[in-house]
Amino acid sequence: MSHQEKKPLVIAHRGASYDAPENTIAAYKLAWEQGADGAETDVHITADGKLICMHDDDAERTAGSEVKISETNFDELRKLEVGSFQDDQYDGEQIPTLVEVLDTVPEGKLFYIEIKSGMDAAKAVPLVKADIEKSKIDPKQIRLISFSDEAIKASKEQMPEIGAFLLIFFVHDRVNGTWSPTADEVIEKLQACDADGMDINVVYRVEQSYIDQIKAAGYSYHVWTINSPHVAKRYTKMGVDSITTDRPSFVKRAVHSC
Ligand code: G3P
Ligand code: CA
Repeated sequence: MSHQEKKPLVIAHRGASYDAPENTIAAYKLAWEQGADGAETDVHITADGKLICMHDDDAERTAGSEVKISETNFDELRKLEVGSFQDDQYDGEQIPTLVEVLDTVPEGKLFYIEIKSGMDAAKAVPLVKADIEKSKIDPKQIRLISFSDEAIKASKEQMPEIGAFLLIFFVHDRVNGTWSPTADEVIEKLQACDADGMDINVVYRVEQSYIDQIKAAGYSYHVWTINSPHVAKRYTKMGVDSITTDRPSFVKRAVHSC
């Protein structure tokens, strides 16, 4: 099968977050309406031990409140309003729990849960496991993602049936123009934490040979955040397994046009 025949899955980044406020129920409902193959969220632990969906570790950007998630109980966080920062039509959106978001996921769709590494990420894994069990979702629909190799390792130990992708942070050496880690170094990292694949920021321009080397070693290859049809088509041709985007319908059209 050529690269073009096997299309990457289109994953809605923080929900359909170009059109609706990120990490809200409205953004996930819209992602499913827009035909996303899956969606992604970011989870943090509240002071009273609940997992909530929010990207930042405080509520300043989305709710105009400086409260820190890790120092605040869920009931207090629930009073915040996280929709109108994006558009008045979303005034009244509240911070959702992970279980509430998982319960929006239709049958046959994927859901990527990103454990943020600002906290002790591996500690969140048993909470994620409990929330998956509480929700209606089939665990086969879940993928766990994190920059923390400890969280990935803990996830594979505690939930071996759930796919886990390591988010890779790249460093550019301005003197010799090289990027690290190399594909060999990434493969070593993936092996060490028992990951099933890697997920990389699109700002890091990699060659086809890099993707081919990762995939030949048996790992899947994922890219975030692509909002341009032109870039989405390029990565489709390069054979990536999923593309995470703020604009699922827009990008899915591009992916399926080539
Ligand atoms: O899908 C991975 C991506 O979401 C990681 O970056 O900052 O948007 O959480 P960020
Ligand atoms: Ca994320």
